[in-house]
Amino acid sequence: MPRKFYITTPIYYINYEPSVGSAYTTIIADVFARFHRMRGDDVFFLTGLDENSVKTTQAAHEKGFSEIGEYADIMAGKWLDAWKLLGISNDDFIRTSSERHAKNVLDVFGRVYQKGDIYKGKYKGLYCEGCEAFLTENDLENGNCPMHKKPPKQITEENYFFKLSKYQDDILEYIEEHQEFITPESRRHEAINFVKSGLKDISVSRPNLEWGIKLPIDEKQRFWVWFDALINYLSPPEKYWPADVHLIGKDIARFHCVIWPAMLMSAEMEIPKKVFAHGFFTVNGHKMSKSLGNAIDPVYLAGKYSVDALRYYLVRGIPFGDDGDFNEDELKERLNTELVSNIGNYIHRTLILMKKLSGSKVPEPKGLGGHEDEMLALLKEIKEKTEIHFEKMRIRDAQEDMLRLAHEFNKYMSDSEPWKEKDEKKVANTLYVCMRGVSALCIMMEPFIPKSSEKLREMLGINEKNFTWENFEKELVAPGTEITDIVPLFKKVE
Ligand code: MSP
Repeated sequence: MPRKFYITTPIYYINYEPSVGSAYTTIIADVFARFHRMRGDDVFFLTGLDENSVKTTQAAHEKGFSEIGEYADIMAGKWLDAWKLLGISNDDFIRTSSERHAKNVLDVFGRVYQKGDIYKGKYKGLYCEGCEAFLTENDLENGNCPMHKKPPKQITEENYFFKLSKYQDDILEYIEEHQEFITPESRRHEAINFVKSGLKDISVSRPNLEWGIKLPIDEKQRFWVWFDALINYLSPPEKYWPADVHLIGKDIARFHCVIWPAMLMSAEMEIPKKVFAHGFFTVNGHKMSKSLGNAIDPVYLAGKYSVDALRYYLVRGIPFGDDGDFNEDELKERLNTELVSNIGNYIHRTLILMKKLSGSKVPEPKGLGGHEDEMLALLKEIKEKTEIHFEKMRIRDAQEDMLRLAHEFNKYMSDSEPWKEKDEKKVANTLYVCMRGVSALCIMMEPFIPKSSEKLREMLGINEKNFTWENFEKELVAPGTEITDIVPLFKKVE
């Protein structure tokens, strides 16, 4: 039975268009999904849009739409187009304005309500519309929401509440007993401290909202957007629950590590296996955001440097879990050195040499030994290491394995100097081993830079059926195969 692997991204607000920030999370989730699919796992990769926010209402009105749904459809089209362009291989795309989502929200609410965990009350306090969150004085920095650098609104309104406080001990116990539930460690400690500081009940509905899912027990109220949004994760067929990984940015860790598990406990449903909260891409040290006007457009970058160069850089650019500054020069530099001069050069060199020295045909190996065996053993070693890196979600290390593969095989080729070699047997063996490196690299490239991997796979004539992780260290391109169509995979930019 294949192992199931269900991974999610946050669902994004639609008052803005995809930025390098949301592309970062989505591309990383895509890399994991693609790797697990190659490994033969039963993968479900979910992403989507968080549409029932006051931000949607405001943006629609600002842009002159009288029908909020019409605005939402247009924005959804933009997000879908961007993900398609960036090669995102999601299995489903959930929009919270859809019927099927509303059905799940009502179902979970029904369970929580039956449990006696909902009551009516009054909320008097702060609300940040940027975060869509109820804040306390303790959350503020100089009177501002630390995330949005603006003072939150003071509101007094009638809300329905969820008894979050009732789950305080259970949540704490859960987090402490399940080491692997929250990664990295720093976020785990944050969550523990937050729970220990005392959980207050939270609002699950608000009055006077124009848009959103109506509360079934009081038609004047609509669901608070976070109670609604978290339930999106229940969209796939039931067999995929609980999620294996909720990939999120650190800004929304509290919702995922505390509120969501409490909702699930109340509804008597299983808790997700892992929440991974990654760091943020900043621009010259500042948060990237629409309101600060410094958001970077991934579609523009993909057009300028290629989709794969952008995907490659985003994974490589910041240590997974930490923050890092977005830098276009670095993107260019890595494209030129790591993709063009390392990976691209190795592949191109091998194919061109084969054309010159063996009439474009993969030679038959003749008694491999010594150095050749070492290189084949290296493939095995890299395969095993990469599996561990993916398992432990060390995505940058896995990406480095790919670079190492290209680098070591390139070096082997240079050391072997087949262009000077008179012994035909040795030439054949070197070329054969180099081709084994190329086909392994082609598999390794798939999760990170899928477009280039596909181009190479077609050049090599590898059947899609054989293109599995298992075959990484096997002979994928048989001796005798002719490769005549040699096209460069990456283009250097000045
Ligand atoms: N709608 C909520 C999430 C609901 S999930 C049930 C939301 N949406 S958002 O559009 O603001 O997206 C936030 C997420 O986008 C972050 O958690 C992160 O995954 C990603 N990023 C947005 N900007 C980012 C950076 N500058 N850097 C890295 N990731 C960032 O919050």
